[in-house]
Amino acid sequence: MGGAERALPSAYPSNLIRVMPAKGERVVGALDIPEAAVGPSLQAGVALSGVTRVLGGKPVLDGLKLRAHLGGRLGIVGRSGSGKSTLLSLVAGLDEQDAGVVSVCGETSGKGRLARCALMQQRDCLLPWRTALDNACLALENHGVRRAQARDQAAPLFASLGLGGAERLRPASLSGGMRQRVAFLRTLLAGKEVLLLDEPFGALDAITRAELQEWLALALAGNPRTVLLVTHDVEEALLLCNRVVVLADGRVAAELDVDVPRDGPRREVITSRAFVELREQALEAIG
Ligand SMILES: Nc1ncnc2c1ncn2[C@@H]1O[C@H](COP(=O)(O)OP(=O)(O)OP(=O)(O)O)[C@@H](O)[C@H]1O
Ligand SMILES: [Mg+2]
Repeated sequence: MGGAERALPSAYPSNLIRVMPAKGERVVGALDIPEAAVGPSLQAGVALSGVTRVLGGKPVLDGLKLRAHLGGRLGIVGRSGSGKSTLLSLVAGLDEQDAGVVSVCGETSGKGRLARCALMQQRDCLLPWRTALDNACLALENHGVRRAQARDQAAPLFASLGLGGAERLRPASLSGGMRQRVAFLRTLLAGKEVLLLDEPFGALDAITRAELQEWLALALAGNPRTVLLVTHDVEEALLLCNRVVVLADGRVAAELDVDVPRDGPRREVITSRAFVELREQALEAIG
């Protein structure tokens, strides 16, 4: 109690960005997702054991073992084609492994996993004919919430994401960063325990990306979830996650605990010796 307060930013210069909230700092304007939308429990945890997935005659995942702890943020990096999206599809219950076990909060069936996960796909997949607000409402409506009620729940969150005034715009009129925020809001409003984020900032320029990284860190600080974050960007994974795994040849080639201080200005964090060493280790494992 009594810690400094900090509002979610919409945008400001990237050299001022502090990626993680400082100790004792409370995030205000966090996305207060109603408990009813989240469900009775935030219990979560993802575990893969001996998972093999063969696609196009090749084992894309080959006896993969992986664990994301309850409330943890696991970064998954690897070269293009290393199976990152395949992994998320399996966890989300959208695909089935050829061997091994995939468990999400103890659920191993595809249907059970699907019920526990919200997947933000590599492309934002916003529906072009829906406004930003109605895109954000989509998951709620899919849960049977009436549109007017879904709008009432989603609308107050727009301002806290720096999207105030954009509610009625259609995706074609939004910038890439705004689209990603709407897609993230839709994912969050699905109210699932586990968030699967596939390259959420992949298509953005460096400055917008840095801003959204900070924004995501703060949004998650206000709404803790178990997160699997897939990215090409080692720095992004190290900034946002507690643990980072490198996928190569269908397996985990390296596993890094990110226990470096990250509550200073971004430039200081990423140039610290501990951070640089972790980045080197990850890059070496990627090859
Ligand atoms: N439906 C499919 N049929 C055949 N091969 C597939 C299929 N889906 C994916 N693959 C192959 O599986 C491999 C892994 O694909 P995946 O999309 O998981 O990689 P990724 O790590 O997400 O890559 P990127 O970083 O480019 O997004 C690739 O070689 C891809 O061509
Ligand atoms: Mg992919």
